[in-house]
Amino acid sequence: MHEKTSNQLIPKVVHSSLESLHLPFIQKEQPNYETICTILQQFEHHFLDRQANPIWETSNSQEYIEETSFANRNAIDWLTKLIASPLDWINVDLQREEIIERAAKCIAAACGKVASGPIIRDWSFPAPPGSNKPITLKIRDSTLLDDDVGFKTWGAAYLLAKRCTSGQAMPLDKIQSTSILEIGTGTGLVGLTCAMIGCPSVLLTDYHLNVLSNVAYNVNLNQLQNIVKVEKLDWKEVANGVKQELQQNFDIIVGADIVYEVAHANWISKVIKQYMKKDGIFYLMVPLRPTHTLEIELFERCMEEQGFFLQYRQDQQGLDDFIGIQNYRYYEFRY
Ligand SMILES: C[S@@+](CC[C@H](N)C(=O)[O-])C[C@H]1O[C@@H](n2cnc3c(N)ncnc32)[C@H](O)[C@@H]1O
Repeated sequence: MHEKTSNQLIPKVVHSSLESLHLPFIQKEQPNYETICTILQQFEHHFLDRQANPIWETSNSQEYIEETSFANRNAIDWLTKLIASPLDWINVDLQREEIIERAAKCIAAACGKVASGPIIRDWSFPAPPGSNKPITLKIRDSTLLDDDVGFKTWGAAYLLAKRCTSGQAMPLDKIQSTSILEIGTGTGLVGLTCAMIGCPSVLLTDYHLNVLSNVAYNVNLNQLQNIVKVEKLDWKEVANGVKQELQQNFDIIVGADIVYEVAHANWISKVIKQYMKKDGIFYLMVPLRPTHTLEIELFERCMEEQGFFLQYRQDQQGLDDFIGIQNYRYYEFRY
């Protein structure tokens, strides 16, 4: 295994107009309805437009990121105080309700949550090497129901999809000539991107029924029905030997942000062992959440115990709309 040093990929947050915005003290200044609406409009522009057109791109300006993140935090703080306030100096009930509803939507969007039902986001990646056609996809992030964390696209998926389009993960000619399995697909960004690059056959899998129906929607949205199939695959069932087998094994398996519970480490290592062809590769991107270091350590150990060889690993920074800036780890495992 060789490990490259971080390539200085630093996320560039969407440009922010929030720094110059004057935010009145809620209780002390008691801003009137019109003033609040003017501020809410700017927040809507900032958070909701950003949600529809996420730019989780990288740049070299750490200072810029910190400033922008600070502005976002200030905004969320102000919106939270606004919602918590009785707003009793605004006499019209409907106006108070409108303020609360708009502020809640902005907070939800700022935290990466879909505020009012599903949202369709546009994703784009530069043209892969040897092509002059940028990759563009539409991905529906559904509404969070129960425990389906696959309701939204996560930062790891963006980073892995980007590696796929740039040839920084599997070689492009390999993508274009083999079948790919994605596990824990969520909204499907990684697998669908592989299909857009020219992979002839992609199987997107997850265990959650809401997630599966949403990702099937995304397959249709991008008119990839002839290339991409969707199936249920529950890691726990595979690991426990419950009969639930895919029809084939794969040269390439991909996964993004799929190791966040202790049990995942064991289950996923067994899933990969079961469905990877000899000489296949598993490409994985995970966030290094400070709260989940144990899970990642355990996962690395389980992969080793299952006989996998870590051919490449690289840490990098990335950004998403749920947590902001975060460290990520990219892996290539061979058997
Ligand atoms: C944090 S989300 C990541 C989704 C997507 N890969 C992304 O990065 O945007 C984790 C995904 O793993 C799926 N998942 C969790 N437990 C699973 C299991 N036992 N079997 C299969 N999929 C599972 C969830 O439904 C969810 O879609």
